[in-house]
Order: sequence, then structure tokens, then C-alpha cells
Amino acid sequence: MSNESPKTFHVKNYGCQMNVYDGERMAEMFSGRGMEASDKEDADLVILNTCHIREKAAEKVYSEIGRLRRRDGSSPMIAVAGCVAQAEGGEISRRAREVDIVVGPQAYHKLPDMIDAVVRGESSVDLDLPGLDKFDALPKRRKSGPAAFLTVQEGCDKFCTYCVVPYTRGAEISRSFADLIDEAKALVDGGAKEITLLGQNVNAWTDADHDLGSLIRALDRIEGLHRIRYMTSHPNDMTDGLIAAHGEVEKLMPYLHLPVQSGSDRILKAMNRSHSRDSYLRIVERVRAVRPDVALSGDFIVGFPGESDADFEDTLSIVREAGNAQAYSFKYSPRPGTPAATMDDQIASEIADERLQRLQALINEQQLAFNQATRGKRTSVLLEKPGKLNGQLIGRSPWLQSVHVLAPGLAIGDIVEVEITESGPLSLKGEMLMKVAA
Ligand code: 5AD
Ligand code: SF4
Repeated sequence: MSNESPKTFHVKNYGCQMNVYDGERMAEMFSGRGMEASDKEDADLVILNTCHIREKAAEKVYSEIGRLRRRDGSSPMIAVAGCVAQAEGGEISRRAREVDIVVGPQAYHKLPDMIDAVVRGESSVDLDLPGLDKFDALPKRRKSGPAAFLTVQEGCDKFCTYCVVPYTRGAEISRSFADLIDEAKALVDGGAKEITLLGQNVNAWTDADHDLGSLIRALDRIEGLHRIRYMTSHPNDMTDGLIAAHGEVEKLMPYLHLPVQSGSDRILKAMNRSHSRDSYLRIVERVRAVRPDVALSGDFIVGFPGESDADFEDTLSIVREAGNAQAYSFKYSPRPGTPAATMDDQIASEIADERLQRLQALINEQQLAFNQATRGKRTSVLLEKPGKLNGQLIGRSPWLQSVHVLAPGLAIGDIVEVEITESGPLSLKGEMLMKVAA
């Protein structure tokens, strides 16, 4: 345990974009206190911002804690944050004595006080849930990359039978409309051209008579903001207003991450998804009716308890029928404390592995076909980071494809119009035509 106030910090993120957002806010908070970001190896304070969604998450954290031990046997000050912290609580510092702080995803604004407590020789655990206090307590946004995240909503009330999120992130809770508009403006002033609205159930966001569709329409009016995205959404919260926004708000990018999880009604019921295969497909159809070029993404779980060969075939067929341009797929992982973990008929690991491979092969095939269809087309790209080649920058198309552009004289944050000249499974090449915005 350290008893000097840390001067340097390192945040290591695991898991979803919500953790990326939280990690950024922690970094801003420490920088505001005069601390400097540094490598994991040299940092006085290391924050492990953990994820609990699948597989042996806690084990990974314990082995990372072990690796933080320095050659002389000492350790930096260690804070375990995020969903593993929430799930494991004080057990973490009992098992790994080098851990000084355990802080849940709703309490990390208290880290500065917790650090002071550690300096005084105390260890510190805070797992308060739920709350919006942290958003008021965190420093105002200043600098931003061209593509920024903005958490609008946290938590989940859906209780899918396989999922830990309702337990680790708590009940659904929405930030206020005014607060979000303020933060969005600050991000744009700080350099953001694109904002991705985040939430475990982002389209459950609501404030008085606003829904996510009306929030998007309000963001549309912010000058200097060029692109809006949102993730992750639930089929049951695709309101009429949100679907209509896809047809009317030009800044809303034609990309929809709408997890279905399985194509089998029997499995969807066992998962407590509260939508069916057909109701899902109808929603996709309605979005396509107003925005025909929308790229559909999603999440799938294979090997859920009781999943038969026929159920799995239904999953393959919904990928084809919905026409996914992209998707994330996972092998079912029993999470302690969730109803599915104790269901009969758990699927053998080898069967789930084989199904996962078949599903991923299909998704990759559709993704490649989607990418190939963009060859020869003109599209805009927001340049986000340097590429490997000299003068090369990498950005995203409206459909969230990664596009490599060779164009000396361009800068990160520029939006350019390109012609797509090559397409592969994971990325495209674009030839610069003109600059749209700088
Ligand atoms: N096992 C496998 N995948 C899971 N997900 C959530 N819980 C589990 C689990 N226990 C997946 C879902 C969700 C994504 C974020 O992670 O597909 O949409
Ligand atoms: Fe988990 Fe289901 Fe909530 Fe998504 S909707 S966070 S999968 S419980």
C-alpha cells in the first residue's frame, strides 16, 4: 500500500464503450488535479476499469493485479473500478491485498477522496448504486477527439436471463436533457465532429416528454456537430419517433446496432427477451423503409441452455433474413447469480464452439459482401487516427467501416469525401476527392 499521493496515473479499460467513456472521465478528473497520464509500468496509480459480461472476468483481473507488481516487490496504488468491482466488492481487496480501492461504475467521481483515504493508510470501497451524482461531480468536458462518446443512460431493467448488467450497473436511469445538450456542446467546442450516445439500453433514455428520437433532433441543431450515432439499443425501445429520426435527421448515421441474440422464438423466450423473431424483423423493416441504406449490426449468443440444432439454424437464418452488415457473436457464458446459469440442459462447450465458428463465418461473409458493395461509391469519412503508412489517415464511413485514406495535408478531425477503391473484410481504402469539413 502506498502512502504518497500519486502524481501519475494509468487507466486500463476492459469491455464496452461505456467503460471507455468512464475511463475518459476519470482521466479528465485526474488531469484536473494536476496528475499526469503515464504508461502502466511507471504509473503511481493504476485503475483497472473492468468488465463482467463474460468468462472468467474476475480471474483476468486478479492475474493483471499480479502483473502490476514491480521488480522490487512493490506495487503502484491499485484501484479496481467497473463491473467486476461492483460484482465482487470487498472480496477483491481481501483476495488481492495490493488492491487499495474498489469502486463501482456509479461511484468513480469519488476516486480523489478515496485516493486521499489510501494516502492516510486506509483502504477504500464504494459500491453505491444507482445514481446520477457522478455526472454532476465530474469536471466539465474540455478537449475531445473527433469521435466522442456521451453516456446518456445507464443500467438496465430488462433482466435477460443470461446477463449481469442489471446487477452490476443497476436500474435504468437517464441523464437530464439539459445536461446532455450542455455536454454535447462542450464536446463539439472541444473538437468533436461526431457523438455516439451510449447506454446499456440507450433507446430507453427518456426525460419528461423527450425520447431518444427527440434528443437526436435537438443534437442535430448543434452547429459543428456532423454525425450522431447511438448504441446499444433494445428492440422493445425502438419508438416511432426514433425510427422516424432515421429518415429525417441527416446527421444520424445509417448504422443500427440492434441486438437480437437468437433467431429462435423458443430461445428468445428462455432468454426473457420480450420480443420475437418476427417483431424484431418488422422493426428492421420499418427502419429500412425510412433509411434504406442502413447497415444493421447486432449481438448474438450461441449455446444458450437448451439451444437445439434447429434453434441454432434459426439464428443463422435470421442473420441472412435481417441482412446483417456486421455483428458481434459470443459463446454463452454462465454468469453467477443469473437465472440461466442454473437452467437445465447447459450446452457442451465443443458444440457451442462449433456453432460460434459457423455463425462467425456467415457474419464475415455478409460483412465482406457489404464492404464490397461500397467499392466505387463516393462517401464521407471522418478521419480519426494516423495509419501505418506515411501520410495515411484512418477514419470511419457513415456505415462505421474503417477507411484508410492516403492524403498528405489532411489532419485528424477532417471530414473528407472519398471514392472507395478497395474493400476487404475489415477495412476499405478510399481515394481523396475533397475536404468537406475541417
Ligand atoms: N454470455 C455470452 N454473451 C453475453 N452477453 C451478455 N451476457 C452474456 C453471457 N452471459 C452478450 C450479449 C450482449 C453483449 C453485450 O454481450 O450479446 O448484447
Ligand atoms: Fe443485458 Fe438484456 Fe439488459 Fe442488454 S437488455 S444489458 S443483454 S439484461
